[in-house]
Amino acid sequence: MAEKKEKLLSEVMRDRRTTPNFGAQPVQDADLDQIIQAGVDAPSSYNAQPWRFVVVRDPELRSKLAEASRGQARVAQAPVVIVACGDPEAWRKGDLEEMLRIAKEQGYGTDASHNYVREKFPKLMQSVDVEAWLNRQVMIAFTQMMLMAEALGYDTAPMEGFEATKVRVLLGIPGSVFVVAMLCIGHLEGSDKRFGGRFTSDHVVYHERWGGGTGE
Ligand SMILES: Cc1cc2nc3c(=O)[nH]c(=O)nc-3n(C[C@H](O)[C@H](O)[C@H](O)COP(=O)(O)O)c2cc1C
Repeated sequence: MAEKKEKLLSEVMRDRRTTPNFGAQPVQDADLDQIIQAGVDAPSSYNAQPWRFVVVRDPELRSKLAEASRGQARVAQAPVVIVACGDPEAWRKGDLEEMLRIAKEQGYGTDASHNYVREKFPKLMQSVDVEAWLNRQVMIAFTQMMLMAEALGYDTAPMEGFEATKVRVLLGIPGSVFVVAMLCIGHLEGSDKRFGGRFTSDHVVYHERWGGGTGE
């Protein structure tokens, strides 16, 4: 079978809109695998990979998820919803050692550098704002999945408008785990949202120093 042509990343970033309504056309299994892999391949601090993704395809569950998302119908319409989570305890429950085992298998690092990570990482976790740290990591994986879905010809909607407590109960997510964002994936039905525009780079980019023109 001929390999599916992916859109260029530049096209994806130019054309992507937050999809207002999804039709029933399914997401192919092989494409979903590729989308998920794009998330799994993301970079993270110390390669800790503290993300967990709950892939929801069951229509009844998606309807309930929509209720937990302030009734946003898109969550029920989209054939796939990926609930992206961050687990603050994953490193302690085996992920740190598993990450180092894989690194060793890959020939990455030395015993000394791995021991350095064993010593430093728990200290990092004590010193950071864990929620902000998790959001930082999870949203990169989330974005990679969103862009891969678009590259494969799907439409997406990123969502933060949900009640995390209700989502946790619905999907059996432990209380200690942060529900970071949801990604609806499917095909646009009806007309797309208009492009709302963006600030120019002059408005948001400083050179060398905050607020900075020449720094004089
Ligand atoms: C993290 C994140 C969460 C969002 N949550 C919602 C949401 O709950 N409901 C919604 O209608 N749009 C949501 N959006 C979509 C934004 O409103 C949208 O990205 C923005 O207006 C720019 O439009 P565009 O994505 O079509 O370019 C979210 C976007 C992001 C990045």
